[in-house]
Amino acid sequence: MKYSYVSHLICPKCNKTYDHNEVNQLCSCGSPLLVKYNLDELAKDVSKEDLVGRSASLWRYHELLPVVDEKNVVSLGEGMTPLLPMSAVGKDMDIPNLHMKDEGIIPTGTFKARGAAVGVSKAKELGVKELAMPTNGNAGAAWALYAARGGIKSTIVMPVDAPKITRNEVAVSGADLYLVDGLISDAGKMVGQAVKEYELFDASTLKEPYRIEGKKTMGLEIAEQMGWKMPDVILYPTGGGVGIIGIYKALNELKELGWVEGKLPRLVAVQAEGCAPIVKAWEEKKSVSEFWNDSETVAFGINVPKALGDFLVLEAVYQTDGCAIAIEDQALLEEQQKIAELEGAFICPEGAATFVAARRLREQGWIKENEVVVALNTGAGIKYPDTVKVDVPVLQKNEFLQK
Ligand SMILES: Cc1ncc(COP(=O)(O)O)c(C=O)c1O
Ligand SMILES: [Zn+2]
Repeated sequence: MKYSYVSHLICPKCNKTYDHNEVNQLCSCGSPLLVKYNLDELAKDVSKEDLVGRSASLWRYHELLPVVDEKNVVSLGEGMTPLLPMSAVGKDMDIPNLHMKDEGIIPTGTFKARGAAVGVSKAKELGVKELAMPTNGNAGAAWALYAARGGIKSTIVMPVDAPKITRNEVAVSGADLYLVDGLISDAGKMVGQAVKEYELFDASTLKEPYRIEGKKTMGLEIAEQMGWKMPDVILYPTGGGVGIIGIYKALNELKELGWVEGKLPRLVAVQAEGCAPIVKAWEEKKSVSEFWNDSETVAFGINVPKALGDFLVLEAVYQTDGCAIAIEDQALLEEQQKIAELEGAFICPEGAATFVAARRLREQGWIKENEVVVALNTGAGIKYPDTVKVDVPVLQKNEFLQK
């Protein structure tokens, strides 16, 4: 039995193939590359029952991950996050079978740890010594810390407005940190120049093929945690779109392996009203999105005006009969509070957007009452302390506490 059944890289646009044993970034046609596995061989050698008793981390799926030699695994114990029933909020929105996949409980506090763990591990396997990436904060924090653990140097560029904690996480890791007075797209241009000038490994979203593989494990876990039955609907807060592309890829691989059966869940790309290029494209039935000008939202992770993998996100939505929906900041902040009050979970604004989306889609009848629904909370609320406004007077010592 092999540690990994990875076979090659393939371009989803022009079908050109590449060797996974060499450093590859984009296809020569400009498209992101996807990782392929020998699924027939894997299906013969491994069964889903073999997973029982393995470590509660994403590496339990190592056959479906691209790292060939276990000694290259860089891990902080990421994965196997809880799939929580949300009965109180579910009752409130008339979805009794509502669940939350809670990525707040993972190293670095967001699901970005998954992409970083697998991406950094594969970079290490390929002999990468220094990487660079633009980020809205969370990905840079995760990659800087995992790179530190893997002995790889990193250069991270983020908007000056990105959540301050993510800036601190990068700084404390010893990475080279740059702040830009602009958006992630501006940071991306700077990284592009630096990568050429200094011959760095470009770890930008979808410019290396392995981050998706890490994020894919959210889909693998949801399937396993549901007893290898697929939910009816999965809602995902979509920025660069790697998570939703990864979940779609995971479920297709599981189907091909015969580990799950039936129709794939309807995938919902949830965006912010102030930055909704995928929603606009979906409403216009287009296969690619257009750059969203002057984007703005408190859900910083989904402030991505144009995603390199937009066509893959839209394909995942179209192929699963899913949909795309935009949520206003005010509504997602109210939902964030409601979830903390009803469920005791302090989730991130991006995650809160998926719950508003579920609520709206139920009201519209797009989600049926008896359907099994999974909303992704992609990070911990405590990474965004300033989204909660606290206005409480300070008492004088010995003052009487009036209830
Ligand atoms: C908390 C959070 N949720 C969602 C996203 C969007 O991720 P994706 O690139 O998978 O669409 C991000 C990206 O920064 C994020 O930080
Ligand atoms: Zn190509």
